[in-house]
Amino acid sequence: MREISNPFITSGYVSDDFFCDREKESMELTKTITNGNNLAIISPRRMGKTGLIQHCFYQPEISQNYNCFFIDIYATNNLKEFVFMLGKEIFETLKPNGKKFVDNFFSVISSLRPAFKLDIITGAPTFDIGIGEINEPAFSLDQIFKYLESAEKPCLVAIDEFQQIANYTETNIEAILRTHIQHCKNTSFIFAGSQRHLMQNIFFSHSRPFYQSVSLMQLNAIKEPVYIEFVQHHFDSDDKVISEELVSKVYQLFEGHTWYIQNIFNELYAITRTGETCTLELIQESVKNRIAAFEPLFQSTLSLLTERQKEILYAIAKEGKATAVTSATFIKKHGLLSSSSVQTAIKQLLDKEIITSENNVYQVYDRFFGLWLTTVFGTGYRVQ
Ligand SMILES: Nc1ncnc2c1ncn2[C@@H]1O[C@H](COP(=O)(O)OP(=O)(O)O)[C@@H](O)[C@H]1O
Ligand SMILES: [Mg+2]
Repeated sequence: MREISNPFITSGYVSDDFFCDREKESMELTKTITNGNNLAIISPRRMGKTGLIQHCFYQPEISQNYNCFFIDIYATNNLKEFVFMLGKEIFETLKPNGKKFVDNFFSVISSLRPAFKLDIITGAPTFDIGIGEINEPAFSLDQIFKYLESAEKPCLVAIDEFQQIANYTETNIEAILRTHIQHCKNTSFIFAGSQRHLMQNIFFSHSRPFYQSVSLMQLNAIKEPVYIEFVQHHFDSDDKVISEELVSKVYQLFEGHTWYIQNIFNELYAITRTGETCTLELIQESVKNRIAAFEPLFQSTLSLLTERQKEILYAIAKEGKATAVTSATFIKKHGLLSSSSVQTAIKQLLDKEIITSENNVYQVYDRFFGLWLTTVFGTGYRVQ
């Protein structure tokens, strides 16, 4: 296990101790899977989908009864890459089971046999294949499904950023996958995704192959009182003191968005000395430090935008939550050009995932970026 010096984790999953809540969601996930159903999880990026899946993978009810596989297909663009990723994940996960497993894997998935190599130094089997060497990805996928279905234990496959398949170069990939999944008796699936409209189109449009094929979970922010208790407990175990009120301020500033609040408490925990009591000033410093760490990234993001895009972005950042963005009032207030230019720029910013819209309320997607923009181009944010 990873050596933990700070209990507020900002990447990956460590263990129960550093994982806050998600009890209901874990129960629902486990119940859905153990009853032979598939699940889709939707939430904004960094809310905790991957964490929730990893957390459930570690629970005995799942870990003892299933072979668990996890792939994040955000960076894949076609079926070849998908097959590569899934094949490699299955291989790497089950490899510790020994030679018999390796032999069986490559005899069922014979089309990936060229990937079988022995490590020059350790002599251990490795999965090593160029994407270009996967000649018939659809056939390899057939074989992978045969393998999963013939495994001695049921299999659970989690596919993160699943909406990406809608962008694959092959147009029939949804139909192909759906057909395989439909016939699975030994394998369950979790599909997680952060682009809500794309995910909803995949699972709720009549015309799409995955229509109504899953239970749906919308993952929301962890509830404030539960998170407060989590923070106080971890500060307390290192003899650091933080009031409910101060935790609440951070929670509110980021509306409970998991990764952002974890980041701030990670920093706050680091700069608070053992025996010390947290103050508002320390919180302000933590927020400032974390945002500053991303400044080069934010600057480069900005430099890639057009003037029109930047104008509307500043306006949205200033408002925090912007409504009626094409109205005459909004345009006048923020000195924008015209309703149609705003519309065009908004669409481009949405496509780039720089802003989000929920019921016609617009917000900067990355909450640190949003706050940074207000300090650079506005009067700044306030934690008070
Ligand atoms: N329940 C939780 N308790 C504590 N930290 C969490 C929790 N869920 C997520 N995190 C933290 O937030 C980060 C972002 O979560 P992640 O699961 O990667 O989000 P998503 O998959 O929705 O983009 C994780 O790296 C982890 O550090
Ligand atoms: Mg994720």
